[in-house]
Amino acid sequence: MTATLVPSQQILTPQLEIAGGRRLAGELRVSGAKNSALVLMAASLLTTEQLRLRNVPPLTDIGGMADILISLGVATSHNGDTLEMDGSGLSQSSPPYELVNSLRASFFCIGPLLARLGIARVPLPGGCQIGTRPVVEHVKGLKALGAQVTIEHGVVSAVVPGRSHRLRGGRIHLDCPSVGATETLMMAAALAEGETVIENAALEPEVVDLAGLLLAMGAKVRGAGTPTITIVGVERLHGADYAVIPDRIEAGTFLLAAAITRSCLTVAPVVTDHLGAVLTKLEEVGCRLEIDGTNVTISADTIQAVDLRTQPFPGFPTDLQAPFMSLLATANGNSVVTENIFENRLQHVAELQRMGAAIRTQGNTAFIEGVPRLSGAPVQGSDLRASAAMVLAGLAADGITTVQGLEYLDRGYADFEGKLNAVGASIRRLG
Ligand code: UD1
Repeated sequence: MTATLVPSQQILTPQLEIAGGRRLAGELRVSGAKNSALVLMAASLLTTEQLRLRNVPPLTDIGGMADILISLGVATSHNGDTLEMDGSGLSQSSPPYELVNSLRASFFCIGPLLARLGIARVPLPGGCQIGTRPVVEHVKGLKALGAQVTIEHGVVSAVVPGRSHRLRGGRIHLDCPSVGATETLMMAAALAEGETVIENAALEPEVVDLAGLLLAMGAKVRGAGTPTITIVGVERLHGADYAVIPDRIEAGTFLLAAAITRSCLTVAPVVTDHLGAVLTKLEEVGCRLEIDGTNVTISADTIQAVDLRTQPFPGFPTDLQAPFMSLLATANGNSVVTENIFENRLQHVAELQRMGAAIRTQGNTAFIEGVPRLSGAPVQGSDLRASAAMVLAGLAADGITTVQGLEYLDRGYADFEGKLNAVGASIRRLG
């Protein structure tokens, strides 16, 4: 099939144009974890001293979170991948809706604001493309710590009654191990009076990273990474200098870029314990992995079908479900993928079908019959990880693929096309 490149002057919507079918080779560097950096930034609200975060990825979501902190009175300055935040001027308890609206992670502010000021008014983050994303567990936990919480006109208002305006420790049992609720409650409990126990806490590495930062700020936290986290509140937290963990989802996406193009790539730095379920699945489909410290070298030729189910950590991460499905669309044999975390996270299936993938869905399960070759097509990424999945599919497809939905991609991948082009991909940003 011959394909014609689109003249760039005709492009109105920003998109990536991928010339597929190239082998990749070389080393890909992984940036700091978006999901860690966002919550660690919110922790700057907990102290009057300076917080310096290193290894912060250059993403639009990070800029959005910085804008929210600035609106609350935090002074921020950025130098390369280092971000300094000074919360001594914290003066507002209510970030404006226009800033919060586009960034779900903005809700992280509620815990630290309440802990530090005794009052917080944060607009509900709302749903998004992948599901409704409730905050019931966050609110229930804040109430258990003594806050009075009301939700009216789309705004969550929380106040700590009494003269001290200080939260008090309590026992919280999460009905589901929500990552965001666990993190919100850890930050709130860090300055509360007395001991807080969070049961059925999320085990994700980003939760452990937050505990690492809180410890560096003088908090008393133990058990992060297990289902029971205990926090003994302190009166004040101090500043810290802390490096964000590498992004396990970006690392997994790069490993999948090697697998889908049947290439050999080294991806670093990778904390392999953060990616256990993904590395196991890559081996099951036939990839060879060599691990040397934080370097993972992957090589792939034939890819076999495999079944997978998304689960909370340490299970297979929902954020890599779409990218892995792109790979399975090209595997030998039939795979079954079940999405267990979010109710609406199979929207990439229709786009992969446009590229010649043979996939049918039933509820939250996708039945994938591998095809020898995907074919390039114009496609749309419906959320951050679906956009990455489309780029991966484009790398493997015959001819030209154009991917729209870059506003999502740029939220979570730093210089995605630049990094992939440096190892041999052919991706142009248009529009
Ligand atoms: C975080 C990650 C996101 C990842 C997700 C699951 C950030 C900024 N985002 O999102 O990339 O996909 O973890 O690993 O860190 N739930 C409830 N009630 C609640 C809260 C959550 O039922 O009060 C449900 C959600 O609907 C969802 C599941 O719990 O089905 C997981 O959500 P949660 O762990 O809270 O995800 P986030 O923290 O929003």
